[in-house]
Amino acid sequence: MELIDIFIITIVAILLHLWWRHFSTSGMTNRRQRNLPPGPPGWPIFGNLMQVVLQKRPFIFIIRELRKKYGPIFTMQMGQRTLIIVTSAQLIHEALVQKGPTFASRPPESQTRKIFSAGRCSINSAKYGPLWRSLRRNFVTELINPVRIQQCGWIRKWAIENHINRLKTEAAEKGFVEVMSNCRLTICSILICICFGAKICEEKIKTIETVLKEVMMMTTPKLPDFLPMLTHLFRGQLPKARELRRKQMECLVPLVRKRREFVENGGNPCAEMASPLGAAYIDSLFRLEPPGRGSLVEEELVTLCSEAINAGTDTSATTVEWTMLHLVLNQDMQQKLYDEIVATKLYLIERQRKLEEKIQKIIEEEEVRMLRKEMIPRAQLMPLFDRPFFPQR
Ligand code: HEM
Repeated sequence: MELIDIFIITIVAILLHLWWRHFSTSGMTNRRQRNLPPGPPGWPIFGNLMQVVLQKRPFIFIIRELRKKYGPIFTMQMGQRTLIIVTSAQLIHEALVQKGPTFASRPPESQTRKIFSAGRCSINSAKYGPLWRSLRRNFVTELINPVRIQQCGWIRKWAIENHINRLKTEAAEKGFVEVMSNCRLTICSILICICFGAKICEEKIKTIETVLKEVMMMTTPKLPDFLPMLTHLFRGQLPKARELRRKQMECLVPLVRKRREFVENGGNPCAEMASPLGAAYIDSLFRLEPPGRGSLVEEELVTLCSEAINAGTDTSATTVEWTMLHLVLNQDMQQKLYDEIVATKLYLIERQRKLEEKIQKIIEEEEVRMLRKEMIPRAQLMPLFDRPFFPQR
């Protein structure tokens, strides 16, 4: 290497160093000006994005390391998006509960995500406001409250029977069973039945599960979500997203139409439609008129049902998978868990029996009260005194 080359490299290195320091300190000043928590210095434009990408490690490991240095709350500049990482239970409570409305809204949607959210008409994409409130309230009252969960017991029973049969067949054929794919299928079948009130064949469940998984993968944050200025470089994604949306509509619209027909016919028995009128999530969506949207159209109905199925399938199946792993690793827990399940089941049966007894007693008491009311005349004219006579109880 010639002397001049060394000189040029040294100058370039010094300039790069100055440039780096200038941007990282101006980043810090900027951060202070915006009153943000401290955080690792970032690169110009990319912020901490490339540091995260280049580490090729799960994000959670990077967070654990940064936490040691910056404390329980810190800022990461991911391209044009600012992330505030909160890692202590107390701060999480303060941010999400005490100051919930301040942080409740969602970041802007990418073009791809907008295709699947029918223009932000889903609970996890709508801006914090009347639309979100209406969708969220409906979701909680119609789907995730203890009474509804108990009412759906027959769906879980049906799905678990299918699950066990599938595991037995698979174990006999292959000598082993696949935990995740089986759990996904079973949970997906439960959620399809909760959403559309339909018990459909395994083939159709598999198709819906595969398509919705693709939707989930396609809508996970990608580079343009952090660097919107690169969106035009990823324009090729849009036709793929539209094609996937077409597939999603193709497999779910028939269920929407069948359920609508069932509801319009007053719940007349029909093949596939297993849950009674008003019991499926979509029945409530047919009636719902969220502010600024009016009655929901098929696009929006598919989006809202897909959201519930997708949000519930992966999370629940992953939870089961991890539970199974821990049960295999800590085998003494298996007996404890079994005992707990049996004890809970017995407790629930006993509680149900007591509840039924109580209801029966209330019904009987009410019957006796009505009988007494009918048997004892309110006022009788006494022939002797020509004025009403009120019998004493
Ligand atoms: C073990 C199971 C589950 C876990 C760990 C889990 C976890 C979460 C988390 C962390 C969020 C917040 C995500 C965010 O704000 O970006 C969320 C939101 C949500 N989850 Fe779940 N979930 C589970 C089961 C379910 C099930 C079974 C359903 C549907 C029946 C469901 C439907 C939703 C919906 C609709 C949202 C969006 C709520 C909103 O933005 O207000 N989840 N879930």
